[in-house]
Amino acid sequence: MNTNNTALVSNMKEDEARSELKRLSTEIDGHNKAYHQDDNPVISDAEYDSLRRRYLDLEKEFSHLATKDGPSSNVGYTSHAAFNKIQHTVPMLSLDNVFSVEGLNDFISSIKRFLKEFSNHSSIELEMVAEPKIDGLSISLRYETGLLVSAATRGDGEVGEDVTENIKSLKEVPLSLRGPVPKIIEIRGEVYMSKYDFLELNNNQKALGNKVFANPRNAAAGSLRQLDPKITATRQLKMFAYAWGEFKGVSWESQTEFYNYLKIWGFAVNPLMKKCNSPDTLISTYKEISRLRSELDYDIDGVVYKVNRLDWQKRLGFVSRAPRWAVAHKFPAEQVETIITEINIQVGRTGSLTPVAKLLPVNVGGVLVSNATLHNEGEIQRKDIRKGDAVLIQRAGDVIPQVVKVIIEKRPKKSETFRFPQVCPVCGSDAPRVENEAIRRCSGGASCNAQLVERLRHFVSRGAFDIEGFGTRNAEIFFEKNLILSLTDIFRLKNNRKGLEKLEGWGFKSTEKLLNSIESRRIITLDRFIFALGIRGVGRANARLIANHYLSIKALRSSMNDAAIIGSEAREDLSNIDGIGPNLARDLIVFFNDTINAQLLDDFETLITINPHKVMNSISSPISGKTIVFTGTLNTITRMEAKNSAEGLGAKVSGSVSSKTDLVIIGDNAGSKAKKAAELGIKMLSEAEWIQLVE
Ligand code: IVH
Repeated sequence: MNTNNTALVSNMKEDEARSELKRLSTEIDGHNKAYHQDDNPVISDAEYDSLRRRYLDLEKEFSHLATKDGPSSNVGYTSHAAFNKIQHTVPMLSLDNVFSVEGLNDFISSIKRFLKEFSNHSSIELEMVAEPKIDGLSISLRYETGLLVSAATRGDGEVGEDVTENIKSLKEVPLSLRGPVPKIIEIRGEVYMSKYDFLELNNNQKALGNKVFANPRNAAAGSLRQLDPKITATRQLKMFAYAWGEFKGVSWESQTEFYNYLKIWGFAVNPLMKKCNSPDTLISTYKEISRLRSELDYDIDGVVYKVNRLDWQKRLGFVSRAPRWAVAHKFPAEQVETIITEINIQVGRTGSLTPVAKLLPVNVGGVLVSNATLHNEGEIQRKDIRKGDAVLIQRAGDVIPQVVKVIIEKRPKKSETFRFPQVCPVCGSDAPRVENEAIRRCSGGASCNAQLVERLRHFVSRGAFDIEGFGTRNAEIFFEKNLILSLTDIFRLKNNRKGLEKLEGWGFKSTEKLLNSIESRRIITLDRFIFALGIRGVGRANARLIANHYLSIKALRSSMNDAAIIGSEAREDLSNIDGIGPNLARDLIVFFNDTINAQLLDDFETLITINPHKVMNSISSPISGKTIVFTGTLNTITRMEAKNSAEGLGAKVSGSVSSKTDLVIIGDNAGSKAKKAAELGIKMLSEAEWIQLVE
């Protein structure tokens, strides 16, 4: 490939110009394909830009030689803008995992604790289904009056990518449903590639000099997410259906009845699915599926257990993003031996020092692993992990690879105990060990560059602002080059387009792409924003809890300021949020009362729009937004179920009665809370009245 033809355009003869234009055109086309279609660019953006510039210069000089569909027409340039987005009408959730029989038993017990039926009549059966957990990518197919109208990937669970055209080439996706046709049905399942087709595809890719895929899952994802549906059609993709989203004009009473519908409509249901009437049958099914695993022509990574009865599924509902009525029993992670070549220390966004082992690269379950987390100082001491050690490492699903144990017999003679640094390796501040904890934390705060870069990385990550094209490496570069010094600078980056384009490996195209994705994120939901701030202990679930409670950034900030006063109502209100413990409450108060953070938040409010949080069912429910307290013993439902249904209807459930309480539900033997409610004149309901209200 010649990208270095430097002959001056103005000195060229017509013949030379014609052949040069043709050469450049073919070359640019090839790079467009590599970049947009294969996700595998072979030259830097700067080189690409210089090719395009040369083409345009030539075209200008020899305008009569220009062709309509040449690179200057931008075909294959802007048309690859990425997929359209589809908002899921019902969120696509994930599953909680268990890794052992004990984990499974805990799961069963939690269901039985939730449903009152099991506290009184222990002889009642809890029917479940068990089926393989397919290692592919989840998809949601929408049918209206029996016709396929759209297909979306999971995305972040709320918004996915529109792959409608691509999905149509899958034999196992009916374009129109057979049998009784409901008005609306969204079918969910897993798209996968068989092990055989994966090997075939990689052989072909190799022969053509294209990139090969690490495992069937990546191959399936890469094949479905093709901008050109014709390419997807050449790949062998399959699908197992197992769940639903929105539906109208059809109903079923159990998971198994739904599977019968799936078969009638024309979908593939996994043949290993089994109805199980006891934990023992679940375990024997797990063992049977594990035994068959290597013989199956598709990858599976566990067994999914689901409560069969639909009315129970509904009552059990969800905890943050996962159903309470289903769980994935994951297969044990594959373990592989390798050597630690180095132990490095990484500084996290809250200052925690995390030791990371650099490894001799090894393939673990189809992924090349060259780093493993060593968690913290305590873990290194406990396992006596040293540089040069032979170790067993494992990788379970998306989890970061871990060191399981040191193979002591293979320890080199001269090895030394690892000495953990007592100062931050980046900013040099003291890094004291947190009392009663296994971690050291850098005390540098906002003056530590490593913490700033990590906060930036977190801020743009998928669950937060989800800024496509930002990448983790870029956070560091932008910071080093002074393009971004604080989180808000991200939204001022467009004023420094020149600075970006000048960076090595950057050019017009990638700058444009990044700035567009930043612009598209100027409006954000409150829960994502709270998560993005990177407050210690605030993961996605807690961010949602907080958003659910305070509803707007304004209310959150002012409540956190009020909560700084011990004994204030705001402080009590915060500690009453179920799921927010005292440490988290303290960290939240500290964060929002810090002057630098307050300045940052003021800045954000001028740069972006933080949408108020939408409470589920806020329109239809008479109790949405109300604060409810349950007290005493309930007879027909458990306290857990009562709380769950109240929250499902948009109410907040609190543990104590105050002037902010709207409603108190009085069970048997209610004590001081009922008395206080009566004193404050708060509306009270009996259990029966409550059930009537909810129903
Ligand atoms: S049921 C409401 N069944 O695993 C939850 N999920 O780790 C519905 N998956 O996002 C999920 N095989 O993409 C279900 N037999 C199966 C599955 C399965 C694979 C995927 C699914 C889900 C992920 C969670």
